[in-house]
Amino acid sequence: MLETRIRRPSLLDRITTPQQAAALIKDGMIIGMSGFTRAGDAKAVPIAMAERAKTDPFKITLITGASLGHDIDRMLTEAHVLSRRIPFQSDATLRAAINRGEVMFVDQHLSETVEHLRSNQLGPIDYAVIEAAAITEDGGIVPSTSIGNSASFAILAKKIIVEINLSQPAELEGLHDIYIPTKRPSRVPIPVVACDSRVGFPYVPIDPEKIAAIVVTDVKDSFSTVEPADVDTKAIASHLIHFLEQEVEKGRLDLTLQPLQAGIGTIANSVLTGLSDGPFHHLRMYSEVLQDSTFDLFDAGKLTFASGSSITLSAACAERVFGQFDKYKEKLVLRPQEISNHPEVIRRLGVIGINTALEVDIYGNVNSTHVNGTHMMNGIGGSGDFARNAYLSIFVTKSVAKGGKLSSVVPMVPHVDHTEHDVDIIVTENGLADLRELAPRERAGQIIANCAHPDFRDRLADYFQRASVRGGQTPHLLEEAFSWHERSRQTSTMRLG
Ligand code: COA
Repeated sequence: MLETRIRRPSLLDRITTPQQAAALIKDGMIIGMSGFTRAGDAKAVPIAMAERAKTDPFKITLITGASLGHDIDRMLTEAHVLSRRIPFQSDATLRAAINRGEVMFVDQHLSETVEHLRSNQLGPIDYAVIEAAAITEDGGIVPSTSIGNSASFAILAKKIIVEINLSQPAELEGLHDIYIPTKRPSRVPIPVVACDSRVGFPYVPIDPEKIAAIVVTDVKDSFSTVEPADVDTKAIASHLIHFLEQEVEKGRLDLTLQPLQAGIGTIANSVLTGLSDGPFHHLRMYSEVLQDSTFDLFDAGKLTFASGSSITLSAACAERVFGQFDKYKEKLVLRPQEISNHPEVIRRLGVIGINTALEVDIYGNVNSTHVNGTHMMNGIGGSGDFARNAYLSIFVTKSVAKGGKLSSVVPMVPHVDHTEHDVDIIVTENGLADLRELAPRERAGQIIANCAHPDFRDRLADYFQRASVRGGQTPHLLEEAFSWHERSRQTSTMRLG
């Protein structure tokens, strides 16, 4: 069994325990670890690192693809192992440590991290810790359910620790397309010209001598935590379907639409699943995380191909998909996240990007990351890579949060991830604002009337009216613009009285 997963015999004697592999990691090192939205993460070595730190304290900079599963960020935080964390996370314990200022979190566009490594603005990586489904005869690493930044971590690291995960299906081999851009400024265009383009290797080509240790595991990926669709997310999906149908009627799109991207989380997942109720067909995805919605669309006969960087599924969906993986494999490709999220490719393919906002302001600026302007939620992830470059940049959000205490449409967002220039469409359960070719004052009218919750609409309209009297291209009452957030900070609600 092991010989089919580690096909280069000379590497078999590098098999060791997670504890011995973890002992290679020293204080102050920069570690690149696999893992992207809970998929394909290294599972044994980081847990052994957290265990070791209890008696032998050390700190590292940890760079991943995106978020990790198995509470690894929690365990590393509790063991005080993390001094810096890059470029994305979604763990409640780590989030709290970041917001206390204990862990320095660099919230970065997901397409950019490896460019920084390649140009020595970050790094060098001391160890890459990579989960793999197999190692080839040549020593190439076959990733598992995500690629994320793993390929460049392995290529750029001084040494590599590989976790061979026997619970990951051997059939994953052949799913990946590893293409590494050449050096700048003489870089050639990335040859991805369609969602299903294959332009690289099915494994990460590395010098096998760099493999310092191999650990064998059999722990499954953590399952996704997305909640099922609810009445609000169904309403958001229905507004979006209606809008896309109108775009087809106007001749701007046909029923196959443009390649779709959907961001992480419950809302974007539910909205994408909702597209199966529309008249669309032969859809394609050029996305980052392939969630349950991707496979719902395949099973509904609506989707022909999906390109992503990871597959993150709920328990039921994982059983359905990995129990009959051959049914889906030919319609899937996983790419390094710098390719799945590459501005050049997203712009060229004309992707329709659907991402989730925490809150939007009356002019269409979007805050996706900072609760009340100060406290990190997860990070910008790939939303900026897509929003800036998409054919249509769509942001979805429920119009209220925290049981209706907070309005998700506010006078001015206290932190901007996506400026008004990168936002075409905003959708809440109340309706859709089409902001294309509108000036800020026109945008405000659309957003307040169509997207805001009825309980907050009049106050927003009143704010806008008084600000407009004062004048400006983008009218504001600066002394009042953040008063909704200040009230929320003091009383946990934006409601009056
Ligand atoms: N103010 C404060 N908190 C808010 C809020 C607001 N305006 N809107 C939502 N929230 C909170 C929710 O209450 C919930 O908190 P909880 O976990 O304590 O219950 C949390 O944010 C998640 O909100 P939810 O409504 O469940 O939406 P979601 O799961 O779809 O996540 C984001 C929404 C914005 C947090 C998530 O999409 C994200 O992190 N986006 C940024 C990264 C990204 O877009 N990546 C896309 C490329 S893959």
